[in-house]
Amino acid sequence: MHAGGAARLRTVTLAVLTLSLTAAATGCGNDSGGQGGEVTVGIALPTRKQTRWIADGNNMEKLFKEQGYKTDKQYADDSVDKQVEQVEEMIDRGDKLLIIGAVDGFELGDALQKAARAGVKVIAYDRLLLGSSNVDYYASFDNYAVGKLQARYIIDKLGLKKGGNAGPYNIELFAGDANDNNVRGFFSGAMDQLDEFIKDGQLEVPSQQMRLSQVTTYKWQAEIARETMTTRLDDFYKGGSTVDAVLAPNDGIARGLIEALKKHDYGTAAKPMPIITGQDAETESVNEIIAGEQSMTVYKDTRKLAEVAVKMAQDILSGKQPEINNREGNDNGNKVVPAYLLAPVSVDKSNYKKLLVDSGYIKASDLN
Ligand code: BGC
Repeated sequence: MHAGGAARLRTVTLAVLTLSLTAAATGCGNDSGGQGGEVTVGIALPTRKQTRWIADGNNMEKLFKEQGYKTDKQYADDSVDKQVEQVEEMIDRGDKLLIIGAVDGFELGDALQKAARAGVKVIAYDRLLLGSSNVDYYASFDNYAVGKLQARYIIDKLGLKKGGNAGPYNIELFAGDANDNNVRGFFSGAMDQLDEFIKDGQLEVPSQQMRLSQVTTYKWQAEIARETMTTRLDDFYKGGSTVDAVLAPNDGIARGLIEALKKHDYGTAAKPMPIITGQDAETESVNEIIAGEQSMTVYKDTRKLAEVAVKMAQDILSGKQPEINNREGNDNGNKVVPAYLLAPVSVDKSNYKKLLVDSGYIKASDLN
């Protein structure tokens, strides 16, 4: 589904948004104070560490409320045990549907079984729930495309071409938490682009850390990435060699890497910042993009993801078939979960105003 997938997704997304806007304008389906009645939807989210998850939770809550549903929102603070407990309590409290952004996609099997027995439907949110047949739908972004956008940015900015002889440029690779299923999509999306340039010598990886298992970052912790980067810079960049590009999986990690780089005197005329990628379009990182420290981020409009998930939930709860745009691509090891995937967008200094500020995703007053 990957080649040309982004364009296709964008078209489908537009169609869906147009449809829901039309429905809203004509009052169809959500007049007379909504349709939720006494129904409560459980929203289990993994963490508050990245600001996106706070926005995800607030956006869904708001949309459900507008439709007359009650919500039961919980954050697991990156703890598997806490999330299992939260999900089980939601089922015990009688929540009718669960939207789950998993801390660890593999660890909710028993809780999901409990949900199925109680007749509670489950939507996997952003991160696929793994190894269980008790997952009904999946709402996310095209995670493979996220990694591809990050890598294409690096390739374009370094001017690498198929069969060319640019460089060699030094690159260091980082990935997110090993238990977050998205991480495989992000990393393979990136490496499918970068590999040929590593093979033909236009890119070099001085640390030799190239396999996913070598570059994951426990619970996406920026401090850990910062320490790893510090060690790599100390050990592999001696005698004047410098790093030209860093594949950073998200904005939090990018900020950790930037700290390590600055401590090693990057960001000066003599030693410019390498190209550094990111993800999530967090305000703090957009400010670093404006300041010329981070190069780009991948914007995933969490407002749209919340819309997709809430619409899915409403359809399921009213016995309708939710709209799907990806039927085959999300095998969780036990079942292929029908999904709706949104298209991510590459953002840098040249287009952040139009994409992030004009669309209201970030307030101009929060930017430097
Ligand atoms: C999400 C990213 C986020 C990361 C850390 C991933 O599963 O897709 O948007 O940066 O988790 O929370």
